[in-house]
This record gives sequence, C-alpha cells and structure tokens, in this order.
Amino acid sequence: MPVVLVTGGAGYVGSHACLALHQAGFAPVVYDNLSNGHEAFVQWGPFEQGDILDRERLDAVIALHRPVAVMHFAALIEVGESVLQPARFYRNNVIGALTLIEAAQAAGIDKIVFSSTCATYGEPVRVPMDEGHPQEPINPYGRTKLMIEQALSDLDRHAGLRSVSLRYFNAAGADPEGRIGERHSPETHAIPLAIQALLGQRASFSVFGSDYDTADGTAVRDYVHVLDLADAHVRALRYLMDGGATTAINLGTGTGTSVRALIGAIEAVAGAALPVVEAQRRAGDAPLLVANGTRAREVLGWSPSRDLAEIVGSALTWHRAELTRG
Ligand SMILES: NC(=O)c1ccc[n+]([C@@H]2O[C@H](COP(=O)([O-])OP(=O)(O)OC[C@H]3O[C@@H](n4cnc5c(N)ncnc54)[C@H](O)[C@@H]3O)[C@@H](O)[C@H]2O)c1
Repeated sequence: MPVVLVTGGAGYVGSHACLALHQAGFAPVVYDNLSNGHEAFVQWGPFEQGDILDRERLDAVIALHRPVAVMHFAALIEVGESVLQPARFYRNNVIGALTLIEAAQAAGIDKIVFSSTCATYGEPVRVPMDEGHPQEPINPYGRTKLMIEQALSDLDRHAGLRSVSLRYFNAAGADPEGRIGERHSPETHAIPLAIQALLGQRASFSVFGSDYDTADGTAVRDYVHVLDLADAHVRALRYLMDGGATTAINLGTGTGTSVRALIGAIEAVAGAALPVVEAQRRAGDAPLLVANGTRAREVLGWSPSRDLAEIVGSALTWHRAELTRG
C-alpha cells in the first residue's frame, strides 16, 4: 500500500482524510504535534508525534515510512488568534510548511496536497467565487495560506514539485459512526457552537450580525461535509500520481446557507429549539462566501454528495458520542 504522510492528521479534517485514504487503499502515517490535535483521532495508521518546524524529526519519520506523497493539513487555523499573534502564525504556517517541503524534497517526494482556504480570497468581489477570484486575504491566517500557495507554484516551476492546493469553504459534519469529529479549542465554527448550545454545554448560540445585505440579513456560508472533503483529497492525490499539473481547486457545494437557515436545519434534525441570541457582526466576517465548484468537477470529477441534513445529523451524532465518552 502506498504510504502518505499526513501532517495534522490528528486534527479535524486530517483525521477524516486518513479514514478516506485507508478506505481507498493507502497507508496514512500521521505526523502531528498535538497542539490542537487528538491522539484518539489517529485510528487508521501509525502516529508519529512531531512538529513540522522540526526538520530532524521530519527527516527521521520520512526515512522510516518512505511516503510517496504528503498531505499537509498541519496549521494554526483560528482567524482571531492570527490577528492577535501574527508572528506565531507566520512561523507555524509558513516556516513550518517550508521546512516540511524541504524535508519532502530531500527525500525525493514530489507530490503535495495542501489544505488551503477560501480565506485566501478576502472580501468577495463576485459570488460564487471561482479560482480566478482576486486573492487579497484580510487577515494573517489567510495570508499565511496564500504565501504557501505561491511558494508551491514556484516550487512547481523551478523545482519539479507538483501540488494541489485545495481551497476549502466551511468544513462541517463528522464521521457518521461518531469515531472522529470536530473538536477545536477555542471553538469558533458555527455548527459545533450551535450543537453545544443545543446540548446545554453553552448558554446560547450567537448570531453575529442580522443586518447583512443577504436574503434574511444573516451571513451566508458554503458548508461542505468533511467526508466529501476527505474524498476530494484522495482524488487530488490520484490526480498527482497520474501526472496531473499543479493547480488550486475550490472545495464547496456551491450552495449558500444563511445562519438562520442553519439554525432551522439544526432544530429540524434535533427536534428541539436552539437558544439563540442576536449579537454584533464580527470584524472581518464577509456577508456571503459561496464556492464555484466547476474546476473541482472538471479536474477531480468531484462534487459533494452529502447535504446539510447529513452534515448536521453526523455532527450531532459526534457531539452526543463525545458526551457519553465524558
Ligand atoms: N476547518 C475548516 O473549516 C477549514 C477551512 C479551510 C481550511 N482549513 C485548513 O484545513 C487544515 C485542517 O484544519 P482543521 O479544521 O482540521 O484544524 P485542526 O486544528 O483540527 O487540525 C490541525 C492539526 O495540525 C496540527 N498542527 C498544528 N501546527 C502543527 C505543527 N507545527 N506541527 C505539527 N502539527 C501541527 C494540530 O495539532 C492539529 O491536529 C488547516 O490547514 C486549515 O487551515 C480548514
């Protein structure tokens, strides 16, 4: 079985990618420093604790497992933290990624699937957003991701390293069997926050802004099931293994869901009312972020197969399972 080094594989999206890799006949090796990950999420291959800033450790793990490709999820991800501690984000997400890339190159690995984000676009000038949309990130987090996309493009041009940068919109949902799911600290994502309020772990769910220029006044996002994202990673890997050229691809559903519609979906699935409070807009939140998924269909043959009810239902299963685990 071809081995794939999965940095950040003890985190939310990376652990679901390991499940998909395993199901597709690959052998994922997780490399994670557990700063935000969970060893219990590593269930489909060996775990190597380490930091992407630690070149010696990377070299040793790569020499031991001899991966054919890297999936690079490891990053600091919280936009608000990136504003408070930009240098920490640049060191981790930029220097860390470059250290990883150099280690991969030294070992002759020439294929990387990179977790990028719609945050590289910044304020939307047209929606749905296609990959040619201007990339002008409005926070350090988005800029760290854009810098690596740009580095990867140069590495293709001048050093023969091919990559796919996958620009996710809002990853959501969980493994429907409740084995792994979304556990961020601090939690800033809408669906886990809402479910925690529903389950009594938070007093209420805050709707940040109800005066946007959208149909119901609340912000609109494109929620894509994490297992659909995981499937897209396997397709991106196969694309590179088949000789595909370096590219960047949006991963979203093309359907926008407002915060109010999301609340409705959660209440319908849970059969209970969500305690909601209205709050001010959060700085830096765009009114509307929705993907144009044409390139994902054309290049990867990928389009998401799971709808909002499955996203919410699987997230609820995960949070309930977490409660019983204590
Ligand atoms: N969750 C989303 O909606 C979303 C959207 C767009 C892009 N992304 C990107 O997807 C990737 C995964 O996001 P996630 O939601 O799973 O986050 P996560 O925090 O759950 O996972 C990130 C993992 O990386 C690890 N990590 C961080 N720095 C590291 C380092 N220096 N060395 C080794 N391991 C390190 C953490 O311990 C964690 O397990 C990130 O790169 C993120 O930017 C996520």
